[in-house]
Formats: sequence, C-alpha cells, structure tokens
Amino acid sequence: MSNQIQPVRGMNDVLPAEIGAWQHVERVARAALAAYGYEEVRVPIVEHTELFKRSIGEFTDIVEKEMYTFQDIGGESLTLRPEATAGIVRCAISNGLLRGARHKLWCQGPMFRHERPQKGRYRQFYQIDVEALGFPGPDIDAELIALTARLWRELRLTRVRLMINSLGTAQARAGYREQLVQYFRSHESALDEDSRRRLGGNPLRILDSKNPQMRALIEGAPLLHDYLDPESREHFAALRAALDALGIAYEVNPRLVRGLDYYSRTVFEWVTDALGAQDAVCSGGRYDGLTAQLGGEPTPATGFAMGLERVVALVSQLPDGPPAAVPEVYIVASGERAQLRALGLAEQLRDALPGRTVLLNLGGGNFKTQFRRADRSGARVAVILGDAELDRGVAAVKPLRGDDGQTDCPLSELPARIASLL
Ligand code: HAM
Repeated sequence: MSNQIQPVRGMNDVLPAEIGAWQHVERVARAALAAYGYEEVRVPIVEHTELFKRSIGEFTDIVEKEMYTFQDIGGESLTLRPEATAGIVRCAISNGLLRGARHKLWCQGPMFRHERPQKGRYRQFYQIDVEALGFPGPDIDAELIALTARLWRELRLTRVRLMINSLGTAQARAGYREQLVQYFRSHESALDEDSRRRLGGNPLRILDSKNPQMRALIEGAPLLHDYLDPESREHFAALRAALDALGIAYEVNPRLVRGLDYYSRTVFEWVTDALGAQDAVCSGGRYDGLTAQLGGEPTPATGFAMGLERVVALVSQLPDGPPAAVPEVYIVASGERAQLRALGLAEQLRDALPGRTVLLNLGGGNFKTQFRRADRSGARVAVILGDAELDRGVAAVKPLRGDDGQTDCPLSELPARIASLL
C-alpha cells in the first residue's frame, strides 16, 4: 500500500454518488444563464502569469501567495488560473470582441489557489463565472443579481443573504485609501501581522480581516461610502432602487471590499450561515477599468462567480436533496443466443426511449446473480430474455418495484410496453 499515489492536497475527486447534485446545479445554472442571454465561452486554464498580476493585483493574497505558477519548457512564466474574469477579458481583447460591442458571457471550470484547505475551501475548485462586457449602467448590475436570486430560488436554497457595497471609482478610492492609511498608521501597534503587511500594499483589505482582535479598530475606520464620487453614489442608489423594485432583499455592508483589485463601484456577495467559515457562495462586482488595464479598449464590465462546491454542498443539505439518477431498464439475458440478441435489444430500447438509461447485464452470470445486479442498479423494470423466450419471440417484463408480476411481451411491442410502465 505504501507505494499508492495520494491525491494532491486540497484537490478533490467528484464521485458518481455526488455527481447528481453537481449536474443538477449545472443544469439549472445553464438554463438560467440562457434565459438572460448569456453565451458560453471556453478559455484556457493556463495563462501568462502577467495577466493575473496586472488584473487581480500584485498586493493581493491571490497573487502574493496563492498562485500555481511555473516555468514551462520554453522558459515562459505561466499560471493555473486562480479565477476566470481575467481570462475572459483577455479572450475578449485577443479576439477583438470589444470594439464598442456588448457581450454576455459565461464559463465554467476549475480554478486553482494554493490556500489552506478546509471545508468549503480547496486548492482546485470549480466556478461558474458570468461576465457582462460593455454595459455601463446599474441596470445590468441589478439584472445579474436577479439572475443569482433566480438560481437560489430554482435550487430551493433559502439560507443565503445578499450583501452589497460600492467601491467608487479608482480615483475616489485613492483619496479614501490615504485616509485609511493615516488612520491605521496612527494605530499601528494594534495591527496584526497580516494587516501590517497590507498597510503598505493593499490597506482596504485590512477591512476584510477575520481576526476578532482587529474588529474594534476596523469599526472605527473611516468609511469608503463617505468618500464616494457623486456618479458612483448615483449608480449605487439606482442599483438599490432596482433591487427594491425587484423585491430582492439586501444588506449594505460598507466593509465589503473583495480580495481582487480590479473592482470599481458595485460589489456584492451572497453569503450563507449553513457552511461554516467559508460563507461566500457567490461574489462579484463591476470592473470598469480592467479592459484598459489589460491593453483593450476601455469597456465597462461587471460579473460574478459562484463556487460550485459550496452551492453543491447547500443543495445536498436539502431534506429531499437533488434528484438521484437511476436507470430505468435492466436487461437480464441467459443463453448464448439470448445474450447475443439482448445486445441488439438494448440498442433498440435506447433508440425508442431517448433520455432513459437502459442497462444490459454484462459479463454473464446465472439468473439469480443477474437479478441481484438488476435490483442493486435501482432500475424500475427488468426485461428477461432466455433462449426459450427468444424461440417464442417474446421477452418477460417485470416491474422491480411494487407488486406487479412478470408478464410476457412480444419483442416487437417491448418499447411501447416499457414506455407505458415508466
Ligand atoms: P472570488 O470571490 O475570488 O471572486 O471567488 C468567487 C467565488 O468562488 C467565491 O464566492 C466562492 O464561492 C468561490 N471560491 C473562491 N475561492 C475558493 C476556494 N479556495 N475553494 C472553494 N471555493 C472558492 C472571483 O473569483 C471573481 N473572478 C468573481 C467575479 C467575476 N467578479 C467579477 N466577475
């Protein structure tokens, strides 16, 4: 056993017993995204390291200490994407999609961050990432939030709360930043190590500290809201009015600053009390400066990403959980000719019953063994074919749940008979 290869810490296998919940979430999300006109894109998992430095920011936790960065054989510094926004914006620029056009895009896949793994926090995790490029107004911010609220409704998740804030423009934030640095410098001895480090590079992140000993100091810090530029103030008021009109409850959290540097104006986060410390299930915001920062035409943009592990965990906690995938039909076949015929019969049934799962007993076995497998599979109906049945042109049909007995059915009528039983 000692030479067994272990999985990489913080990177998970998703097993068949869990995949139903994943697929359910993905199906609901895909349908909701289509309903709002979002189109899927697929972007690489690996990008130039520079892309993430320039977008997420040099002084963020992600870039400073969480990226999977490596040199490839050609000597280029590449990074496994820690998030998807930078890649989608890079894709829009590389493919000339901006040019004043508007795009509603989404993508899905694994992200990589070398964080300390714990429940709900992994080193490889999946996001559904949604980005609206070319839309300046608060209406799209509100529509994005409505989309997420719809997702929770359709997934029947109730233990989620929405927090919103406005970070203003980069210029307004620079003024606020100065005030904040002054405030924290005057209390420097009370700062913990992390906050002291952030003071030089990214002082806003101090507001995000989870350290209870920092709470009082943070409570007393100046509020960004008081430094917002008038346009950002208006944008935020319009977003709030739109959410009110939509009947979406929210809490304004002036300390919601997010861990990535590209945000401006609206930021939001859906949090839950049902998952312990890792409480953010979906977060995002507006990033009007990013396209220009990455060398593209200045384009207003906004978006969000949800952590699939966390959403799946919430769905799995529901009392009547996600629908389990069970096969509909199990074909039991014994005898050389019957086994050969059963292969073709299974194909015919799959043709006739699209979307249904038809399992054929593989690898032989006597009737008893085969029935045991049929039972374990959870199938609703067994089709039994022996050489004797074959000679009579029939198969036996046996519902595996309920008390109905076994009946013979002409092979030609089998698809219709089974359809009537499902
Ligand atoms: P983020 O807040 O870094 O934002 O991540 C978005 C979501 O991904 C989080 O709310 C959480 O559900 C999930 N997540 C993050 N880290 C982990 C982890 N280590 N393990 C499990 N789940 C995790 C972004 O990534 C932005 N790109 C979102 C965005 C899109 N903003 C605008 N557009």
